[in-house]
Amino acid sequence: MSSRLIVSRRTLLTGAAGAATLAVAPALRSPAIAQNAPLKVGLMLPYTGTYAKLGKFIDDGFRLYVEQKGGKLGGREIAFVQVDDESKPEAATDNMNRLVGREKADVVIGTVHSGVAMAMVKVARDTKTLMIIPNAGANDATGPACAPNIFRSSFSNWQTTFPMGKVLADAGIKNVATITWRYTAGAEMIDAFAENFTKHGGKIAEKMTVPFPEVEFQALLTRVATLKPDAVFSFFAGGGAVKFVKDYAAAGLGKTIPLYGAGFLTDGTLPAQGDAANGIRTTLHYADNLDIPANIAFLKAFKDKTGNVGDIYAVQGYDAAALLDAGMTAVGGDDKQRDKMIAAMGAAKIDSPRGPLSFNKAHNPIQNIYLREVRNGRNEMISIAQKDVDDPARGCKLT
Ligand code: BEZ
Repeated sequence: MSSRLIVSRRTLLTGAAGAATLAVAPALRSPAIAQNAPLKVGLMLPYTGTYAKLGKFIDDGFRLYVEQKGGKLGGREIAFVQVDDESKPEAATDNMNRLVGREKADVVIGTVHSGVAMAMVKVARDTKTLMIIPNAGANDATGPACAPNIFRSSFSNWQTTFPMGKVLADAGIKNVATITWRYTAGAEMIDAFAENFTKHGGKIAEKMTVPFPEVEFQALLTRVATLKPDAVFSFFAGGGAVKFVKDYAAAGLGKTIPLYGAGFLTDGTLPAQGDAANGIRTTLHYADNLDIPANIAFLKAFKDKTGNVGDIYAVQGYDAAALLDAGMTAVGGDDKQRDKMIAAMGAAKIDSPRGPLSFNKAHNPIQNIYLREVRNGRNEMISIAQKDVDDPARGCKLT
């Protein structure tokens, strides 16, 4: 297996898979020590590839919260084990089985990519492992595959783009071409946008895709120039989003055919996109300039810890830890009181940097979706596109 595995208590010990586990595993296996043993948090995230920065910011956000709580949640010390999932669905089942099997993670935090997340969800359901998804939006995770032990601190793919359908229709845009990666997240975000856009009288000129994680956009941009839609709506994220936005501007399309998207198109990417991103409007559950105490404090703390400007991925990691904290606090650190812990997590009301955050019966966030525009190198809020957006959780039997 190529993925790197790292185990840590307070300090990180790095090493090849297997060898590094010796640092923590013997203590966790002894029943006498088990009560006082740290809660073992498995971080399964992309630390390499097009989503590497997203994974790092989630990891940093999660650890920031734990540090702010003195390294403990609900009075229990936290230990980490981490796996690089490389955003590869084909390796996801093995990676997750390793975390919950050999590594005996008590809770798994993961991941970014919808396809990887769905493989993790299956293992979490089968093994009843507590899992918090800190990004991946796969609708099914809090839809047909929902389960008491599965939570999301991020969004459903439907949730982030559905509001944009009405925003564009209200702006008088009639005819939109869409461009995305050909995988779950792209398909679901485009479908949700199209659902609401067509409901309000809009038309989809053409749906275009490239395989994930390819970044050869030239043929599609040529096609846009031929179609001449009123606007383009797209989903890309991470390294792919940087390249797409720059290619779109370089093709000279931005001047005549405005580019819109899911907020991932411009979140965490602006330093690399530079002027090419100016004026792009997106919808997301976060904006850089949210002028609320929780966001101001978070951005300062994140900058102090990492030297970086926080973004939505860092917020989602931070809130995953806050959600786990709500559960651990309710049971005084005893995660074996599972039902009580899950009930507390489901009822949690988090004062998130993104604004008020609560959870529906399927354990998906209920949250504001903001309309943002890139100005001065930031995703600035223009308005609340839709308040307290609640995913319909289609197919979830818990609701
Ligand atoms: C996803 O695969 O669900 C995803 C990846 C990056 C950003 C947003 C969603």
